[in-house]
Amino acid sequence: MLKIVILGTGNLAKQLYTTFSKADSVDVVQVVGRNMKELQQFSEYSTISNDFGAITDADVYVIAVKDDAISEVSQYLMDTNRIVAHTSGAIGLNAIKATNKGVFYPLQTFTKDKAVDFSTVPFCVEANDEKSLKTLKTLATSISENVYQIDSEQRKKLHLAAVFVNNFTNYLYSVGEELCLEEGLSFDLLKPLIMETASKIQTMSPKEAQTGPARRNDIKSMESHLMLLDKEEHITLYKLLSQAIKQAHEKEL
Ligand SMILES: NC(=O)c1ccc[n+]([C@@H]2O[C@H](COP(=O)([O-])OP(=O)(O)OC[C@H]3O[C@@H](n4cnc5c(N)ncnc54)[C@H](OP(=O)(O)O)[C@@H]3O)[C@@H](O)[C@H]2O)c1
Repeated sequence: MLKIVILGTGNLAKQLYTTFSKADSVDVVQVVGRNMKELQQFSEYSTISNDFGAITDADVYVIAVKDDAISEVSQYLMDTNRIVAHTSGAIGLNAIKATNKGVFYPLQTFTKDKAVDFSTVPFCVEANDEKSLKTLKTLATSISENVYQIDSEQRKKLHLAAVFVNNFTNYLYSVGEELCLEEGLSFDLLKPLIMETASKIQTMSPKEAQTGPARRNDIKSMESHLMLLDKEEHITLYKLLSQAIKQAHEKEL
């Protein structure tokens, strides 16, 4: 049985807690955070504490606080010889101030109240020694079938890629929703298109799957789209993305 302590009470901490609490080979012995009110939701299977100076003994400490606070929180674990791992895609292994450092990064988007099926979540693990790496792999395997050893440089690039495919596309969904609402239309009308686009790239490369006026260089359609946009940021985005698509496909035109 692997004993773990989760540090942090946010989106990822909540999801990891829920999942690990159901895993046979893992015991979440404690959850530590700053906010006593938030900590209450972790009290069913674990002890809770808002004192970072009173962290319980465990095999692995999983730091799930905001990226900028990882180093600071890891300092409370400087003297342990157990594994201290953070969960960020963007932060290097060396941000951890402890002897046995690790990264335990789940490549998925998490919010507190939306349950996630961890079995399909890719886990990117890294550590500064073989024994810690093996333990982190065992921990990840207890909840996921997709566990990868990925170093800090690779992970940072992967995280950047994730920002493009997730955060940026989601922002574009919100622009689409805004444009629909301006005409009194439901965003639901666009959902089959969104689903088909996501489904298509399961079997073909996104570059191959690209369609639309910029891909075809349909100048009149693009001009009329620009006439329909009011907001400066939407016009800038439309021009920038159309230009990038045109450049990526200019050889085919
Ligand atoms: N959410 C995701 O989709 C996702 C996916 C993969 C990896 N991650 C990684 O998971 C980690 C947590 O992200 P999240 O989305 O769960 O964030 P979140 O919901 O915003 O929660 C952040 C947590 O950090 C705590 N915190 C902030 N500053 C602190 C400090 N100085 N000392 C102690 N605790 C501090 C907050 O405590 P208070 O409530 O007291 O402010 C809160 O518990 C990040 O490293 C992130 O990169 C997140």
